[in-house]
Amino acid sequence: MSAACLAQLGHWVELIEIDPDRARSISQGRPQIYEKGLEALLSKHLGERLHVSSIYDHIAESDLSFICVGTPEGEGGRPDLSMVQSACRSLGRSLRDKSSYHLVVMKSTVLPGTTEDLVIPAILKHSRREGDEIGFCMNPEFLREGRAVEDFMHPDRIVIGCNDPTSGELAESVYRGIEAPVIRTEIKSAEMIKYASNAFLATKISFANELGNLCKALRIDAYEVMKGVGMDHRINPHFLNAGAGFGGSCFPKDLSALIALAQSLDEKPLILRSVQEVNERQPLRLLELLEGKIGRLKGKRIAVLGLAFKNDTDDIRESRSIPVIMKLKEEGADIVAYDPKAADSMKRLIQDIEYCPTAADALRGADACIVMTEWQEFSELDEEFDRMRSRVIIEGRRILSCRDIEGICW
Ligand code: UDX
Repeated sequence: MSAACLAQLGHWVELIEIDPDRARSISQGRPQIYEKGLEALLSKHLGERLHVSSIYDHIAESDLSFICVGTPEGEGGRPDLSMVQSACRSLGRSLRDKSSYHLVVMKSTVLPGTTEDLVIPAILKHSRREGDEIGFCMNPEFLREGRAVEDFMHPDRIVIGCNDPTSGELAESVYRGIEAPVIRTEIKSAEMIKYASNAFLATKISFANELGNLCKALRIDAYEVMKGVGMDHRINPHFLNAGAGFGGSCFPKDLSALIALAQSLDEKPLILRSVQEVNERQPLRLLELLEGKIGRLKGKRIAVLGLAFKNDTDDIRESRSIPVIMKLKEEGADIVAYDPKAADSMKRLIQDIEYCPTAADALRGADACIVMTEWQEFSELDEEFDRMRSRVIIEGRRILSCRDIEGICW
């Protein structure tokens, strides 16, 4: 993603993907992830400004390198740094052949201190070069899945953590052409800005959910309330949508990492833990609402609409549908599931439920339905809902317009 966007900014880019199958697929213009606009960028730049390789052969010919490898959740909630370590080793070794200055920019999400304590020493060790011959920056990204290209090209800000002005200036020059404020910070601060941003957004969602639950008990529409709240410019209207909670590859993992970090420092992450707790409880509230409507779930045919962690993606990582399906299974319900994009991903995780090719198929004969993802097509199902055995609709995302639904917080 970053490689294609950097090519679009006018740079000559060598993308290194060590998995040969993935490298082949990308070099044929087929990215492994779905991102709006990415295929178009690949077809525009592949073979021109953008080359794909699975070996680190041409590093020495470049001016700078970005480390963009994944940092999935590891032991005790901390990020698993094995891919970062391996990238540092390979990158360091390939820099042995370069005699002039080189800049290494860390883009992967890592806890404060990781770039200085792990990345820099590893690269210097493997390159056998001195600290002033290689510059280091930390440049976190704030990209939403599905809109990553748009977010890359139109960021709210560009954060560059650096220890010396030469490195900072070179890193900043990469983004010339993008209109956004640039903030230069220390390396550790840049690392923390990424975690703090994600934790704050997750906090807004859990706050909206807790208030939403209160609104529900008082028969108040949480969306009307948050509309009024978000009009205060100090708060802003974003990320105040109450619902089944947040999932995805970033918020849950980054929250866990920050909590683990706080604990290792003997700090009590009170707010962060509550954000997590509200998020874990939230999807189960849907089932309480459901039981309130139809009684015991054993043997009931329940349609689960939406498996992706949000709309416009096939990603099910930490999707709130997972705990809902698990609980429904535990209760002995008969589950039929549908998602326009994410069914194949969910099938790999959960096999023993029925998957339907359309929402209409899932709804036919169902005793109740739970809407878990904000897919636009779910807003047009009024007639299909009529074909259920009983029209009981519980909504975990505000997407339906029919009147007879039970919203989680509305
Ligand atoms: C997020 C951040 O937005 C991005 O800046 C960061 O770099 C990576 O993590 P992403 O995981 O793609 O991006 O999804 P996002 O659109 O932020 O939504 C995350 C989750 O929160 C989804 O499950 C979504 O349904 C939920 N959400 C979002 C809410 O429940 N309410 C909201 O108001 C907003």
